[in-house]
Amino acid sequence: MKGIFLAALLSALIAVYASEKVVICYYGTWAVNRPGLGKFGVEDVNPYLCSHIIYAFAGINSDGAVIPLDVELDFGKDNYRNFTDLKKKNPNLKPMLAVGGWNEGSAKYSEMAADPAKRQNFILSALDIILDFQFAGFDLGWEYPNRRDTVHGVDDIENFTQLVKEMREEFDKHGLILTATVSAVEAAAAQSYNVSAISTYLHYVNLMSYDMHGSWDSVTGHNAGLHKGDSDEAIPREQLLTVDVAVEYWLREGCPPEKLVLGVPFYGRTFKLQSESNTGVRAPTDGAGIGGPYTGEVGYVGYNEFCAMLRSDPSWTIRRDFLANVPYAVNGLNWVSYDDPESIRDKVEYALEKDLAGIMVWSIETDDIHNICGGGVYTLLNVISDVLYENSCHFKRQEL
Ligand SMILES: *[C@@H]1O[C@H](CO)[C@@H](O)[C@H](O)[C@H]1NC(C)=O
Ligand SMILES: *[C@@H]1O[C@H](CO)[C@@H](O)[C@H](O)[C@H]1NC(C)=O
Ligand SMILES: *[C@@H]1O[C@H](CO)[C@@H](O)[C@H](O)[C@H]1NC(C)=O
Repeated sequence: MKGIFLAALLSALIAVYASEKVVICYYGTWAVNRPGLGKFGVEDVNPYLCSHIIYAFAGINSDGAVIPLDVELDFGKDNYRNFTDLKKKNPNLKPMLAVGGWNEGSAKYSEMAADPAKRQNFILSALDIILDFQFAGFDLGWEYPNRRDTVHGVDDIENFTQLVKEMREEFDKHGLILTATVSAVEAAAAQSYNVSAISTYLHYVNLMSYDMHGSWDSVTGHNAGLHKGDSDEAIPREQLLTVDVAVEYWLREGCPPEKLVLGVPFYGRTFKLQSESNTGVRAPTDGAGIGGPYTGEVGYVGYNEFCAMLRSDPSWTIRRDFLANVPYAVNGLNWVSYDDPESIRDKVEYALEKDLAGIMVWSIETDDIHNICGGGVYTLLNVISDVLYENSCHFKRQEL
């Protein structure tokens, strides 16, 4: 009797927390093909640490129809089904499907959004997949309207709004969630979005508040500095590439805070320095630095890969930019900007201060899921969960 009462009380408490902050986790499903400890399949997802989990990515064809990008994995090996079955472990989890991403480019999306018939095709084909596999919603990851290989240029902005509007109308008939994942800083976002208009129709706007500096620059810089850093003194505020300036832009342009989701990177950006005697922020660089053993791409390291490197090689020096609230690490000519448990904690606290909707993660498969580095399994996701729990606004806290 007492046990039943406690269980009821507990689930009531959980229900209260359930209406609070979101943790929207992107999952890069191709990680199932990574070697060794880098391999991450649906069975490795902890379904209790995210409120929403997003399957990356589906694509589209030239008619605008949504299609699987890896037919063998998504359909053949039942990965869509296994993914949405995560709800059987945690009924509160909302598995979603994302379309787009970097590799899809912009051209097909620009054509689709500009053509009423193709838009309809896009919406109805997305709906088919969503209802078939019982996804809880859909995420628009067009990278990006009016940029890269766009076809219709500046018209993309209003056509994207139109797409989002039509899609929301259709989704409301089925109680589905609609989100978009968007470029963050003003210089990029202002080219792509009518912020107030899309914010009206989306349930959540996931801010890609990272990739602010990387090996494409000629000097070192933070991937996702929270605030103005040590070496940003001379830069006017509106030109600063920082998380807080990006958030302020989206809020100012009319995205309601309760819809804005702060993106945090579970990866770092790497640089090659020009000189071992100039190793700070804004030091001259010479292209991309190291890559990781699993992700295998220069200029980029997963948190799981980099924390292992820091542990195994004592020649790394870790420094902290206390103004920007992020660490960076130096080893000879190698320079790496990344996020660690402390910087992730600061960002979650910042999102709470601003009363944003919650946190988005790119992406869970590069968390330290095997506790290689001693921070516990799912080191970074657990930090997010801990901070929300401490502030009584976690959706649910439960160990696997
Ligand atoms: C999906 O689950 C089925 C049944 O457990 C399993 O046989 C299959 O290998 C899984 N697919 C993937 C891609 O792991
Ligand atoms: C795309 O945007 C342009 C510019 O706003 C507009 O002229 C055109 O009608 C739009 N296409 C559709 C189908 O809405
Ligand atoms: C953004 O969309 C709103 C609502 O559709 C419209 O009134 C406004 O003119 C648009 N802004 C721009 C700059 O096009």
